[in-house]
This record gives sequence, C-alpha cells and structure tokens, in this order.
Amino acid sequence: MSLATMQHPAAPLFAARSVVAWVESIADLTQPDAIVWCDGSVRERDELTHLMVDSGSLIQLNPEFRPYSFLARSDPSDVARIEARTFICSADEADAGPTNNWREPVAMRETLTGLFEGSMRGRTLYVVPFSMGPLDSPLARLGVQVTDSPYVVVSMGIMTRMGTAALERITDQTRWVKAVHSVGAPLDLGQDDVPWPCNDTKYVSHFPEDREVWSFGSAYGGNALLAKKAFALRLASVMARDEGWLAEHMLILKITNPVGRVFHVAAAFPSACGKTNLAMLRPTIPGWEVETIGDDIAWLGQDSEGRLRAINPEAGFFGVAPGTGASTNATAIDTLWGNAIFTNVALRDDGDVWWEGMTDTQPDHLIDWRGDDWTPASAGTAAHPNSRFTVAAAQCPSISDDWEDPRGVVIDAIIFGGRRATNVPLVVEARDWEHGVYLGATISSERTAAAEGTIGELRRDPFAMMPFCGYNMADHWAHWLSVGQALRSRGGVPRVFQVNWFRTDEDGSIMWPGFGENSRVLAWILDRVDGKVAAKDGPLGLQPLAGDIPLEGLELRAGDWERLFAVDRDAWLAEASSAEEFFATFGDRLPTAMTRQLAELRRRLER
Ligand code: PEP
Ligand code: MN
Ligand code: NA
Repeated sequence: MSLATMQHPAAPLFAARSVVAWVESIADLTQPDAIVWCDGSVRERDELTHLMVDSGSLIQLNPEFRPYSFLARSDPSDVARIEARTFICSADEADAGPTNNWREPVAMRETLTGLFEGSMRGRTLYVVPFSMGPLDSPLARLGVQVTDSPYVVVSMGIMTRMGTAALERITDQTRWVKAVHSVGAPLDLGQDDVPWPCNDTKYVSHFPEDREVWSFGSAYGGNALLAKKAFALRLASVMARDEGWLAEHMLILKITNPVGRVFHVAAAFPSACGKTNLAMLRPTIPGWEVETIGDDIAWLGQDSEGRLRAINPEAGFFGVAPGTGASTNATAIDTLWGNAIFTNVALRDDGDVWWEGMTDTQPDHLIDWRGDDWTPASAGTAAHPNSRFTVAAAQCPSISDDWEDPRGVVIDAIIFGGRRATNVPLVVEARDWEHGVYLGATISSERTAAAEGTIGELRRDPFAMMPFCGYNMADHWAHWLSVGQALRSRGGVPRVFQVNWFRTDEDGSIMWPGFGENSRVLAWILDRVDGKVAAKDGPLGLQPLAGDIPLEGLELRAGDWERLFAVDRDAWLAEASSAEEFFATFGDRLPTAMTRQLAELRRRLER
C-alpha cells in the first residue's frame, strides 16, 4: 500500500505536537496501512477483541463461566522474556554495567531502523498513550507506545491507565517515554495473517538517556507490553537514579494488625517466587488483615516530610497462571471471574480455561497451549509453565482502599526474598539500612520458567532486578545507600528484612508451608517495626526469639523450626566467597559499604 492510500486519521486535537510528530516519524519508517489513536474506552476494547476473535488471534471463552474473557495462544517460539535479546544502549558501556547486554546506541539505532523499515506494512499502527501511576500523582510518569499488535493494545489497556486522559496530560513541555513495538511481520497484499505474528529476530532495546525503548519481533509479556518491565523498571530505574527516587521489582501490601494499626510493606522477589501469591495473601492467623496494592512493581520516593512513599505504577496483574488455585491463591482465582485475557493456558471442553494447579484434579480432556488434544496421559503440561493471566487490579477482592492514593503509601518495612533450598533462614532482620542493602544485593534464586534458561540452576538476582535494572547494578546499590542517607536525615528509614519460604530438609522437601502461613512471618516483621518483640543478634542479622512467631496449627516436624534458622558456618563462608566473587565483577563501581558488610559477615561467622 502506498502512502497516498494509507489511512491517517488526524490525531486528536489535544495531542501534543511532539507526540504527533513522533508518531508520524514512526509511521514513515514502518509504513502501516492505518493509524489508530487509542482512547482507552470499553467500546474500543470490544472492537479490538471482536477483530481478534474474527481473525483467529483470540478465542472467546464460554461467557457462562468466564464472561468477557479470551484466550490467546502464542507462537511456540514466543513464550517468555528474552533476556539474551534485551539490550541497554547507554552512551557509555560502563553505565550498563556487567549484568546487562550493552550495545553502542548509534549502531543499535541503525540495526533497528533496518528492521522497522516497512515492518508494519499491511497492519495498523496503534497509538497507545498511558500513565504509569494514578493520573496526576507526583510519582506518576507518562508514556506513549506505538504497536502493530491489537493483543498488545488490549493488554496495555488492562495493565496501565491507557487512553485519552493520559494523552491529554502530555504537553510539549512534558518529558514522556517513547515506546516503539512491532511484531516484525509485515503482510503483503492479500497475504493471510497468522494468529500470533512474530519474527525469529528479536530485539528489546533501551536507550536510557533518551527515555526510549524499541522492541521488535515478539508479542509476549515483558517483551511487548513496554510499559511494564521496559519502562516501569529499566527506563524508570534510570529516571529514578537521576531524580532521587527508586523504581523496583516489588509488590506492595497494606497490613492491619489486630489492634487496627495500619502498615505498608514493599517486597522484592525474583520472578516466579510467589510474588503475586504474597501480594494476595489471606492470613491464617486471627486478627490480621492483608490487602493488595501491587504485585510486581513499586515506585518509591521521599515525601515532603521525608518519609518513603510508594505507588504501584501499574493498573493490572500479568500473573503466572500455573500454580494459581483455590488453595494457593483464592484471591487471584476470584479476581479472574471475567474481563481477563489468558495467554498459553489450556482450553477446557466447556469453553473455560485450565492450568496445572488450578484444581486438584485434572480434566480428562483439554486443548493444550499449543492447540493440540491433551489428556492426563499426554507427555507435556497442558498450560505452558509461563502461561499468564492479564486482569485489572481493580477487580481484585483484596485490593486496598489506598491503592490509587496519588501520594502513595508510607512504607514501614522492605522485604527481600529469593528461592533458596539451603542456607538462607526463614526470616532475618537487617541490622541497619546498609546491611539491608547488602541483603538486597546478595539475593539469589534458583532459575524459574519466567525467562529462558535451565530451570533449577542458581542465579544471583540482586534486588530481584538483575533482568530489570537499566544501569550499572553497583550504581543501583550506591543509589540505595544514598536514598537511605536522605531518609535517615529526615523522615526515617524503613526496616529491612530477608525471607526465604523455600528452605528444604535432608529429603529435599520444603519445610515451611508458605502461602497464607507466611502471614505469621509478616506479623513478626510488623511486631518488630512496632517495637513489640525483641530479637536475637545472630551472624546473619536479627532473628526471632522462640515463641515470637506463633506456630499453633502448623504441622512442622520436630527439628524443622531449628533447621529453618540453622546457620552452617562453612556453607556461609562459602556464600561470602561467592558474594565476593560476584562483587568483584563490578570493579571500582562497587560501593565500599558492600565490602565492609562482607567483612562484617565473615567476622560474625568466625566469632
Ligand atoms: C513479564 O515477562 O512480562 C513479566 C511480568 O515477567 P515476570 O513475571 O517474570 O516478572
Ligand atoms: Mn516481575
Ligand atoms: Na516472563
């Protein structure tokens, strides 16, 4: 199709000239057949879902069981974030640090220009304006994504505050984030489309100094919903470094204790360590209430009184489906009653969805995530291990009344966790902020299905930000130390804790029951914040005293409690050496505070 026949409906009159000019430049490059400026309305979403049902990209679920809900099956090669194809293109390679793939920005722009040239031919370019964070919150930031995927538009409509209200707030004075996305599958005249267009060549390239991200070839999750990992973590972490705040891979909870005192907690866990489950936890101990503010990302900044406040920049959940069931996360199941997009889960014969762990018994017959017949005798899982649900946070029955407070919520405690079979105790409190930063910097976890790679292998995941920090990780630790200093001098620092729900016994079975029972650990953490309980100084930090975490009603075996807190001196000296090796990869960017913490850990172990 030539430029002359291309439909270019005028941009909305209120669109800033900077946005219009940028959209035109992307359209000139990518040559779409049409341009649509998205308004974020229900009607627009209906039109897009109808379009995708007609084209075979979406399957409408049986409305009797799952109203207004759809299933998408991805191309089998496009099922997860692709860390090896994710690039940080800072001007200076050292600013990307040793944990990111760096590419020289000019060369990368050249490569991308080649790939995006004509990449939207035969497709529609959608302009998707959005706000990360409640509109008009001082912590919120604006962005615009262009994409040729209606699946991405509908998903962005759930995950962000998308549409007219966001576009209206962008003026020519606003610094907004530019996000360019193409599935990289142009259509020739008359060529049939496929249900999930994508390209074997994939790039997710960030230009932190320009606040820009370009994504090519994938339509899956974090690769394509660019507001999420690309903007709200990689680019925002750079913005936060420059502006004195924090963009973190953290859930946010509101917790009320039995006497009605309200706390807020932010917690960082690597992908697929139960963050969504913790965000929607139903306490098993009497009198405590836990409510949800966010399940994946927190933006934190100091308020005018010097306290640390946090918002959830997102408006929805993009959760891992497998393992989500009535017994593990009943709140998520209730959230998913309707208005949900499911990707790569299995389809039941009655037109509803299913995934491993959703129910105790397996259905006799399903269509699996690839679209093939499946029975319990089949070799693979019915749902892909990284299959997802996309649903509005407002639909969550445990959503907190302050989740959209534009000021954010005051954070009382910060928790770091990983999935560790050995060594790391159930819970420990950091001695101070600097020790807390060390605990965050040394998070490690066994590899999960959320990213490509070998499952089970141990990987370091400092602050659970390894795949998401848009700048030098050692500078990120230095930034945390300086934020701590600013907090200490005015509003006070939140207390910092480390947890591990996954420690195993000699037989390899996980000792702690987890899920709702984690409320017992949260209660101890907040009793510490409240000054209600003492703690024992141990080599790893401050540990609970016997009896301060109530165990009534738990079926721990004799000795499990001790094993959950056991410190194996030799194993910990080896952990220290491994941390030292890891720290050495950062050369002189490593803050001296980290070396000091390492020395103190060794000194305490050798005592
Ligand atoms: C994603 O891949 O978009 C995503 C949300 O990742 P994760 O769940 O691994 O954090
Ligand atoms: Mn995540
Ligand atoms: Na993922």
